[in-house]
Amino acid sequence: DWTMGKYREQAIEAIRDQVGSSHVICGLSGGVDSSVAAVLLHEAIGDQLTCVFVDHGLLRKGEAEEVVTMFRDNYNMKLIHADEQELFLGQLDGQSDPETKRKIIGKLFIDVFQKYANQIEDAKFLAQGTLYPDVIESVSFSGGPSVTIKSHHNVGGLPEKMGLKLVEPLRELFKDEVRALGTELGLPKSFIGRHPFPGPGLAIRCPGEITRQKLDILREADAVYIDQIRKHGLYDEIWQAFVAILPVRTVGVMGDGRTYDFACALRAVTSVDGMTADYYPFSHEFLGETATRIINEVPGINRVTYDITSKPPGTIEWE
Ligand code: XMP
Repeated sequence: DWTMGKYREQAIEAIRDQVGSSHVICGLSGGVDSSVAAVLLHEAIGDQLTCVFVDHGLLRKGEAEEVVTMFRDNYNMKLIHADEQELFLGQLDGQSDPETKRKIIGKLFIDVFQKYANQIEDAKFLAQGTLYPDVIESVSFSGGPSVTIKSHHNVGGLPEKMGLKLVEPLRELFKDEVRALGTELGLPKSFIGRHPFPGPGLAIRCPGEITRQKLDILREADAVYIDQIRKHGLYDEIWQAFVAILPVRTVGVMGDGRTYDFACALRAVTSVDGMTADYYPFSHEFLGETATRIINEVPGINRVTYDITSKPPGTIEWE
């Protein structure tokens, strides 16, 4: 009979057979897939693994610290924390087109990753948390319509360019199996159950121009919103929830003063695979309480809306 425990043993053996005594580089985003891949690899080859965590300045509140603490301090992994906020935010300055933003981020991501990877001596392998559905999706179908709604970035083509071979220890697994493997490997439930977070991060939750001020406000509002969702026990019922800061300021009144601050939109959806989604039917009490908290606790926001668009016709992210 097949158990995750056995899968773990076999996967570890397979990794050791494949890489021998060579060094492996792994891009770590803090998402479930790359985290599980990293922990599995670490168990298999220990110090032959170096993870690279790219901080593009578009992460959520406390996220970089969480990832670094977890993997470097708890797991004792070799981890490079690439603080490249200046670079990314500098190049994004003044850009407002969604696809342009994605392309800038995708390209910089590869540049930065390559820069750090080049510093790692005798690296021969690049590890990726590719899942089985990713493997199938990359098979091209002829005849069907091909419409690119959003150009997701990944490190496609990078291994060849860098002369590295690929290690993909999760490529036979579906998402729920990756979660089970992560649990088997002792990753905390809070990590395993995390909502998906897009590669371009907060950039696509900040429609229009990205500024540090907007990002800071967005991070605070998002933290309050997620705290509300957790406190009400709703986190696990929701596929993905986040705040988007809107490129508009509106007039409000607070105390005896007039305010002129940003509006934000709360987003929460249920979904099976992210391809289609329904907005989450929060109670009016929950929404009212959350709006009050955000406006009271987050300077810079004076209006909160709830996005009730499903996918299609909307997309989950705002860009
Ligand atoms: P959309 O907005 O297309 O999102 O309905 C579907 C799922 O994909 C995530 N997403 C991305 N993930 N790079 C990523 O790695 C991207 O450019 C990107 N755009 C959207 C989104 O968070 C949702 O889970």
